Amino acid sequence: MYRERSWYYADMNILTNFAVFEGGDGTGTSTQIEMLGRRFDEHGSGSFAVSLPPLFTTCEPTGNSIGRVIRSCLKGETSFRPETLARLFAADRGEHLYGPEGIVERTGRGEFVVSDRYSPSSLVYQGIACGNDLPRLLNETFPLPELIIILDLDPHIAVERIRHREEKEIFEYLEFQIRVRRSYLDLIPYYRERGARVELVDARESPETVALAVWNFIREMPIFQERE
Ligand code: TYD
Repeated sequence: MYRERSWYYADMNILTNFAVFEGGDGTGTSTQIEMLGRRFDEHGSGSFAVSLPPLFTTCEPTGNSIGRVIRSCLKGETSFRPETLARLFAADRGEHLYGPEGIVERTGRGEFVVSDRYSPSSLVYQGIACGNDLPRLLNETFPLPELIIILDLDPHIAVERIRHREEKEIFEYLEFQIRVRRSYLDLIPYYRERGARVELVDARESPETVALAVWNFIREMPIFQERE
């Protein structure tokens, strides 16, 4: 049984064995998660198999019913006040963390969990949409990941990359994405002060080069060191 913890009295609000990919839309977080998954598959098979922890990749918004409501809002099919959307993201995150087979349960049994977006997305996107206070309040009891990887890309390039997607989402326009990039950069000290490791990766490079930079950060996490 995994209960929500009060982190107020903990020295560090960090969830070990947990890393997240963050960045504006079109920076390639989903591609990088897929590439990481392939790396784990390749490492774990064949005669050169090395011992890696089991990897679980996941994303927010999740595929559960709260996540589906959020996606419909992102597509513009449903419309909520920005504050309501901030609360929905937080509710989705609470289930993602503490629900059955959730992030806390999995990391607790030694899996390495990587999420495509997590609370930093709320501080950035909902911070822009409805001010910083509510997103910070809604997310302050959630643990921080051990590692936050921010894929950093000029929003002009990022928006160009996603221009051809059939389904447009409400945050996918240049002016908003310029603010998103700035906000991620501004938040780096906020997370570092709270004990999370934050690494910025230049997402202009080829997917392979980015994947290698990402892997070099991930492999330094304690869960990998313990196995060497
Ligand atoms: P994204 O992760 O890019 O997925 P897809 O490939 O399906 O578009 O899109 C999710 C969008 O939701 C993205 O614009 C960021 C936004 N978002 C928030 O505004 N707040 C959050 O807390 C999260 C997790 C995502």
